[in-house]
Amino acid sequence: MENKVIIFDTTLRDGEQCPGASLNTYEKLEVAKQLEKLNVDIMEAGFPIASPGDFEGVKLIAQTIKGCTIAGLARAVKKDIEQVWEAVKYSERPRIHTFIATSSIHMQYKLQLSPEQVLEQAVEAVKYARKLCSEVEFSAEDASRSDKEFLYRIFEEVIKAGATIINVPDTVGYAQPEEFGRLIKDIRKNVPNIEKAVISVHCHNDLGLAVANSLEAIRSGATQVECTVNGIGERAGNASLEEIVMALQTRKDIYNKWTQINSTQICPSSKLVSKLTSFVIQPNKAVVGKNAFAHEAGIHQAGILKERTTYEIMTPQSVGLESNSLVLGKHSGRNALKKRLEEMGHTLDQEKLNEVFEKFKELADKKKEIFIEDLEAIVSEEIIAKIPETFKLEYFHLNTGNRTLPTATVRLLFNNEPLEDAACGDGPVDASFKAIDRITKLKIKLTDYNVRALTGGKDAQGEASVKISDEKGNIFTGRSISTDTLEASIRAYLKAVNRLIFHLSLATN
Ligand code: KIV
Ligand code: ZN
Repeated sequence: MENKVIIFDTTLRDGEQCPGASLNTYEKLEVAKQLEKLNVDIMEAGFPIASPGDFEGVKLIAQTIKGCTIAGLARAVKKDIEQVWEAVKYSERPRIHTFIATSSIHMQYKLQLSPEQVLEQAVEAVKYARKLCSEVEFSAEDASRSDKEFLYRIFEEVIKAGATIINVPDTVGYAQPEEFGRLIKDIRKNVPNIEKAVISVHCHNDLGLAVANSLEAIRSGATQVECTVNGIGERAGNASLEEIVMALQTRKDIYNKWTQINSTQICPSSKLVSKLTSFVIQPNKAVVGKNAFAHEAGIHQAGILKERTTYEIMTPQSVGLESNSLVLGKHSGRNALKKRLEEMGHTLDQEKLNEVFEKFKELADKKKEIFIEDLEAIVSEEIIAKIPETFKLEYFHLNTGNRTLPTATVRLLFNNEPLEDAACGDGPVDASFKAIDRITKLKIKLTDYNVRALTGGKDAQGEASVKISDEKGNIFTGRSISTDTLEASIRAYLKAVNRLIFHLSLATN
């Protein structure tokens, strides 16, 4: 355990909490299974008091995932703590993570409590959590803007009350690396019982310093870091898991630390989180961006060919980036597909395999070469999306051109009953979405729409992702792939609509 940095993943809590990222229970479980392969030490599965869906998600993950700690977040109040315990108690290694703000600005304006009241509430919360669970983490929200003397006192008292981990969040991404490192050193020096607890840090990226601050904290004695896949999270996001892990791995000479992360699962995790949240990864994103290992300049390419280390500080293989090689063709059979999927980490039961095989054959008819990305897209469409298809696409017809008003006719099946309508729009996509709205009679606002090519070549599959919001501002996402981007767009929109309907049915039940 010496020199180990504990990786606390909060993709499913702080990451999922950011606007537009919402995942359903099955999608959360899918991410959790991937985080298990990534071998994180702790996964924070959600904030159970936030909604029944969050509670169910955390409970399902606690019941299913083995081999890592499952944490749930609670404010420093009894009902939150009880709710976390009810969800995480099924885990082999449960953890209650409770927090309260400690900065003057938060205590005065948000909590309207005095420092003494905050101290008392924190101690009570930790004592109560410890009665239920042997692992209790306490977070001093907005620690980096808190009075240091108060911070030392509250950490000392919560450790006495039973906290086994104390977390130092830079909640608003305000800290600078040197300053944050000094805070960790000062906490170590001034909290008398600090050796009884693990010191954790949790950095946000508002000034683009979340990873730098986390690494400086590690150099200063923190042994747990909280982070998310692709750095998703509130506002500018959280510290990115892949960047921290690869910095520690690549610059062992500086940090002399190790993590138990299986780095070859970094790219699969990144892709899955991106797909399910519909958050596209910027091409130049460190470690997992599309261009992270692409060498464009001739001089670089020449260097790489002679000696890889001229321009590459880590290998694509070390982060699980497979070459975009041809994997299967039109004549490949079910067994070849099964074997390839297993190599990619997907072990499917017969029924799922049959569904994927059908889709694979359909695609192989349209597209000569099937790449890993194509298979990944099929698998995630077939095995992850479990929302009932209330409205199903029967057909669409588009009339468009540069001198005509784009019109769309769409026919949907609603409980097997065909419903058809037509609409005009600013383009064929707009017209189709409007035609769908006329059929469903739902008041929907399109808040985001993206199309991208999954693979190269003229016959590449296009992935469309949409975000819509209902009248209350709830956001729903939909994603679909096809060699026809208009079809992908219509199917993605329908998926988001079906999610909205599923959400409405849960709310009325
Ligand atoms: O950013 C923050 O302060 C948090 C805490 C709840 C840990 O997310
Ligand atoms: Zn946070």
